[in-house]
Amino acid sequence: MTFDTVIHGGTIVTADGQFKGDLGIKDGRIAAVAETLDGGEERIDAGGRLVMPGGIEAHAHIAQESSSGVMTADDYLSGSISAAFGGNSSFIPFAAQQRGQSVDDVIKTYDARGVRSVIDYSYHLIISDPTEKVLTDELPRAFARGITSFKVFMTYDLMNLGDGGMLDILEVARHHGAITMVHAENNDMVKWMNKRLAGNGLTAPKYHAISRPQLAEEEAINRAIQLAKLVDAPLFIVHVSTEAGAEIVRREKFKGAKLFAETCPQYLALTRDDLDREGMEGAKYICSPPLRGADTQELLWHHIAQGTFESVSSDHAPYRFDETGKFLNGANAPYPKISNGMPGIAARLPYLFSEGVVKGRITPEQFVALSSTNAAKTFGCTTKGRIAPGMDADIAIWNPEVTRTVVAADQHDNMDYTPFEGMELTGVPEVVMNRGRTIVAHGALKAEEGQGRFFGRAPVDLRGKPGYQAPEFDPAQNFGTVLR
Ligand code: URP
Ligand code: ZN
Ligand code: ZN
Repeated sequence: MTFDTVIHGGTIVTADGQFKGDLGIKDGRIAAVAETLDGGEERIDAGGRLVMPGGIEAHAHIAQESSSGVMTADDYLSGSISAAFGGNSSFIPFAAQQRGQSVDDVIKTYDARGVRSVIDYSYHLIISDPTEKVLTDELPRAFARGITSFKVFMTYDLMNLGDGGMLDILEVARHHGAITMVHAENNDMVKWMNKRLAGNGLTAPKYHAISRPQLAEEEAINRAIQLAKLVDAPLFIVHVSTEAGAEIVRREKFKGAKLFAETCPQYLALTRDDLDREGMEGAKYICSPPLRGADTQELLWHHIAQGTFESVSSDHAPYRFDETGKFLNGANAPYPKISNGMPGIAARLPYLFSEGVVKGRITPEQFVALSSTNAAKTFGCTTKGRIAPGMDADIAIWNPEVTRTVVAADQHDNMDYTPFEGMELTGVPEVVMNRGRTIVAHGALKAEEGQGRFFGRAPVDLRGKPGYQAPEFDPAQNFGTVLR
């Protein structure tokens, strides 16, 4: 067989194991994996390197207006370039419905934005207005196009669907084999805290962490899971930031729930003390759920190592430290009026590799699972996330020994800061490929605008997750009532 490219002499790492070998690429796909392969129009020497599936970033806000109308600093060009420099071959940002907007219109809008991407992309829908038409007509059309996941919110007045709205979405999603992602924080607890804090004149950035208590996440995660169990629907808890939340996920997974979850590097690397930096610097660290105490960090790492989380995602939500982003409502705005979110799409995998693999908290195989393979399974990316013949040649070749200091300019995004500034991280994705084409090599961008492709996705993989059948839906146990 002739190959376009042979990656030679590296250590190939998959979610299941590692071995020394060669990888042959033909027409954008992995054509062969063997001890040695001859030929190849191009031969890449991967001696001393780890050859892994390119990252799949499953949580990023790109060219997206927040519910209050603030546009992210990154569009699909800058966001995808930054992702590529961070070792990602594809990503699944959000396509967000504004209230009153049709889902068809949302998808049309994001299709026009997505065409600039240098890596392959898909979307999770954010649903804020689940009208009858959305539920019965527009969502099925989105599923048919391969948009098989979406996010709902239990917080933010403009996004919160209420429990009934969530049940409607969960049921429709289940019917189509889609997965519902949820931002779980108790809205009323947060609003009540906001009122208390404002009443006492406490509006500096550091109070953001106080206003969104750990209990608000714990309560909402538990509620979201019970709602999903009632209709036996798959559920993905995004950006888990608390030990109590992780503990509920672990327990419910053990019982067989159709449950998936992620945490993010910011909850491992940063703490609420970062919100208390000089002047308004703390605004850089405002995200929701908020940063927690230092004690939470190692507990979350323990959950990562023990399999509570499918993925570690960035939740890249880039708002610049100026009047276009964080300070759209003024330079001294109270914390509830400062844009929520921080960048991290380029730092996610270098951070996870350095603090996880290099420090011995997780194995290289777990790194592959957490960065790529599990996201592919959960979100139905059937041709991505694995190194095997027939799969897309989405590959990242890592030098596991080089140490770099994180600086904002090296993130290659459209931001003016990185919350990870100054951290020393070991391990660098030297070469990143998307469908066999090198997009980043040794610190240089090789991709052209628009070479990424939209990919449709399959239903969530629920093997090994029996779920929960509420007895009230079982005619044998509910006096014969047929409820669905
Ligand atoms: O603060 C954050 N994470 N902003 C982005 C939106 C979200 O909730 O993920
Ligand atoms: Zn969220
Ligand atoms: Zn997010």
